[in-house]
Order: sequence, then structure tokens, then C-alpha cells
Amino acid sequence: MKITIIGAGNVGSLTAMRIAADGLGDVLLIDVVKGLALGKVLDLEDARPLLKSNYSIGGSDDIAQVKDSDIVVVTAGLARKPGMTREELLAKNARILKDVCLKIKELAPEAIVIIVTNPLDIMTFYALKITGFKPSRLFGMGISLDTARFINLISQELHLPTTDIEALVVGAHGEGMLPLSNFTKVKGVSLDEFISDEKIESLVSRTINRGAQIVANLGTGSAFFAPSAAIASIVKTIVKDEKRTIGLCSYLNGQYGIKDSCIGVPCRLGKNGIEQVIELDLSDVQLVQLAKSAAVVAQTTTQLFA
Ligand code: NAI
Ligand code: 2OP
Repeated sequence: MKITIIGAGNVGSLTAMRIAADGLGDVLLIDVVKGLALGKVLDLEDARPLLKSNYSIGGSDDIAQVKDSDIVVVTAGLARKPGMTREELLAKNARILKDVCLKIKELAPEAIVIIVTNPLDIMTFYALKITGFKPSRLFGMGISLDTARFINLISQELHLPTTDIEALVVGAHGEGMLPLSNFTKVKGVSLDEFISDEKIESLVSRTINRGAQIVANLGTGSAFFAPSAAIASIVKTIVKDEKRTIGLCSYLNGQYGIKDSCIGVPCRLGKNGIEQVIELDLSDVQLVQLAKSAAVVAQTTTQLFA
């Protein structure tokens, strides 16, 4: 199994380390900056005896090395700077994504492609349009990270282990995100029964702002520990054909009343990619919010082709 990660920055290199250390396949890290991927890979190789693992990892500045990859993770692009919205990244990252995706289409047409570059939902829809790949084989990582953040904040609020909590987040990986308290369970009981509406509101808004809070504290760059863990978990689900339900940015063609756009929804994932988009029984207000986010994704992506 050849797993290529494009972009050897914070998210890409940490993802490479996690996937390699988990023994999920032969990992290749690629970055446009000369020597960057190879330098990081040499360092990662040196960790093998310390981690008592003989994982396989390579690095290159040549995108042509993506050839015949089974899975490609795209983290190439710029990260948010303090005060910068994900949307402001749009034009620059669209140019990068276009170059990268055309190469994937040419050299690894059978790959399953996971988009990570922000603004995530727009980049995912744009990548689908550029490649013409089947939506089951090209999707984005965003709301599985947001779900992890929601769970973490709930666990801190309730002083319970994260393993006691099952949460659901749908929508955009951005301000249009919808952490769903009514679908969130603590030890099998609805979150609403554990805490007040005010507390839930605060947890929801802290989840939505978590990425920006991290950016503001870091001063430069954005989150990478939890994002790389989220990507590695998606890759593992595919490699091991776990058929687990994970929140992914997926193409919708009628589900949730949304046609021809990409947005975050729960999906069953296995060795062939997305096997099913799970349709939750959302309230009318939630459906409207989801449709609004999907419409922005579709409109903005159309503008990229203008
Ligand atoms: P970073 O700046 O550390 O790394 C990005 C890397 O991409 C750089 O090393 C750069 O040289 C490389 N790159 C640029 N153009 C390239 C090209 N044409 N081919 C190959 N490599 C290229 O940024 P970081 O922190 O790794 O984030 C990467 C992207 O992921 C950003 O757009 C960020 O906003 C996004 N992100 C998305 C998350 C999500 O949940 N979807 C979570 C965290 C980050
Ligand atoms: C985050 O949510 C930057 O999208 C990234 O942290």
C-alpha cells in the first residue's frame, strides 16, 4: 500500500510520522520546497530503532513520485495566520491545489484522495471538479477534527474520559460548523440531560472557535497535532477496511436536500472510500444551516472557475 502525503509542513510531516509508525503502508512525503521532505524523512528514519519499528518512509520534492499511490493526502498549501479566516486562504491555496490535483489525476488515477488544505469544503469540491474523480474516492478531512474538539471540551466540562462521549458535528469546517448536541451522548445519555442549554451553547461556540483560538496562541501557523491524528484515523479506517462512520466532507447529490456541493456529514468509510453517506434526522433549522453552508461552498467554487 503506497500512501503519499503532499505537503511536508506541520500537518503533513506529523501525519507521515503517525501513518508510518502505525505500519499502515509505505509512506512517501512530498513538498515543493527542495530538501524539506527528504530532510524530515531522514529524521523520521532515525526514529525507527528508538520506536522499535521498521516502517518504510521516503521523501521527495518531485510531485511525479505520487505515481501509483493507493492513498494520497493533500496538505499542500498555506496555513492560516492570526486574524485570517480560512476563506482568505482561498485564492492562493486553489492555485496550489489545482497543480497538485492535476498531477494526481495523471499519475495516480485510482487513488483515494483525502483533501486537508483549507478552506476545506471549497478545496474538496474544487478538487472533485478538477479531477472528475468519483466522490466516493475524493473527500475532505475537517469535521472529524471538529468532532474531536467538541468531545474534548465536553469531557473537560464534565470531568469524564473522552471515551465516555460520542459526539456528532456536521456542516462546514469553519464558521458554519454545527456541533449537534441532540445527537451527542454521554455514557449513552443525551448531552442535554447532563448540562444546561447555556453550557451547551458555550461548548458549541468554543468548538467552532477552537481552530482560531489555537492560531491566536501559536502566533504563526495553525493546529497540527489533532489534525494529523484525525487524518491518520481516516487512513487507518481505509487501509483496514473498518467500515466505520466518520464525519467527512463529502459530495452530496440529494442527501439532506443538497445537490451538487460538498459539506461535512457522517459517512461509512472502507477500503473503497465512502460507502454510504449517513442521513441524520436533522431539525428544519439544522437543515437550513447545512444547505446555507453547502450553497456558499458551491458558489465560491464556481467563482474559482470564472
Ligand atoms: P505548513 O505551512 O506547515 O505546510 C504546508 C506545506 O505545503 C509547506 O511545506 C509548503 O512548502 C507545501 N506546499 C506548498 N505548495 C506546494 C505544492 N505545490 N506541492 C507540494 N507542497 C506544497 O501548513 P500546515 O500547518 O501543514 O497546514 C497545511 C494546510 O492544511 C493549510 O491549508 C491548513 O489551513 C490546512 N489545515 C486543515 C485542517 C483541516 O481540518 N482540514 C487542519 C489543519 C490544517
Ligand atoms: C483548524 O481548524 C486550521 O482548519 C484548521 O485548526
